[in-house]
Amino acid sequence: MSSEGEISSFFESSPPLKNMEEIVEKLNQFINWNFSWQGGRRIVCVTSGGTTVPLEQRCVRYIDNFSSGNRGAASTENFIKAGYAVIFLYRRGTCQPYCRYLPDDPFLECFEFPDKTNNIQVRASHLEAVKMAVMDQQRVAVSERRLLKLPFSTIYEYLQMLRLVATALKDIGPYSMFYLAAAVSDFYVPWESMTEHKIESGSGPLEIRLAQVPKMISILRSNWAPKAFCISFKLETDSKILIEKATKALRKYKVHAVVANELSTRKEEVVVVSSSGNVVVRRDCDKPESIVEDNLIRIIVARHSTYIIESQLLIPST
Ligand code: PMT
Repeated sequence: MSSEGEISSFFESSPPLKNMEEIVEKLNQFINWNFSWQGGRRIVCVTSGGTTVPLEQRCVRYIDNFSSGNRGAASTENFIKAGYAVIFLYRRGTCQPYCRYLPDDPFLECFEFPDKTNNIQVRASHLEAVKMAVMDQQRVAVSERRLLKLPFSTIYEYLQMLRLVATALKDIGPYSMFYLAAAVSDFYVPWESMTEHKIESGSGPLEIRLAQVPKMISILRSNWAPKAFCISFKLETDSKILIEKATKALRKYKVHAVVANELSTRKEEVVVVSSSGNVVVRRDCDKPESIVEDNLIRIIVARHSTYIIESQLLIPST
């Protein structure tokens, strides 16, 4: 478990966020709007995509963590469908909610000129994907101000932003949730020991010493947002150790559930590991459009509802 000293020295040595005041203002407006709406909406912070670890202060090279952002984007869509407001803390350039079916390369292949006028139309082959991106739930999410997107790239940005979100959500306690699907770096180069300029390539093999990133889940649970419902993820490539590792993480970080997934099957199946037992969640194979997040979010939302009821029972009556 990371000590408070390690965690505070990580933040003290991090380069400060460039737009911190703007982020805090956006967060406060979003939370006030949604929590004062007709008795209060539940708010979930979905983290998505991988964090980078810069090797130079004026960064040219970096180490990356694998994550396409698909899990976070698909989960966000399902949370919105379930009535939640979502703070989508995502890695710049990764998959976005409602855009999962759009071709990313090249995006312009979605469009065509049907005749000699200047009109542009969507190609029939991409119609469904474009409709999904601009209509229905996406429109609802935007018009009801239920989706706040906050981008990050580096581990420094991600952890500082996660702390801001947690602090801003603290007052709504059990109505808030953290759904930590981002792939977060475990090792990094401390800012003060990082070279300022591009590392020169002429001086032979490169040796870099990486320090361990403190595990932030522990302080999120104990300090930043102790009453929030908290779901973390466990990714492994060896299925034999997956459940054991997820079970250990559940106990160690005292989260409400750990979603365990194996890299190659993560789109087909996940296991929700919690103190009430393990539940295997699969996509519905008989429905081609079904995704594992449809069933996963249904389970998570039901558990969050139980958690809110239980938390209310714990409040002493006056
Ligand atoms: O984006 P996709 O391509 O769709 O893939 C989805 C996914 C596989 C990335 C996702 O489902 C997933 O498993 N995300 C978590 C990956 C990960 O970082 O696992 P981990 O075992 O290294 O970390 C476990 C937990 O500790 C994570 O919830 C993470 O937020 C947290 N952590 C990690 C490092 C750190 N320094 N502090 C943390 O709190």
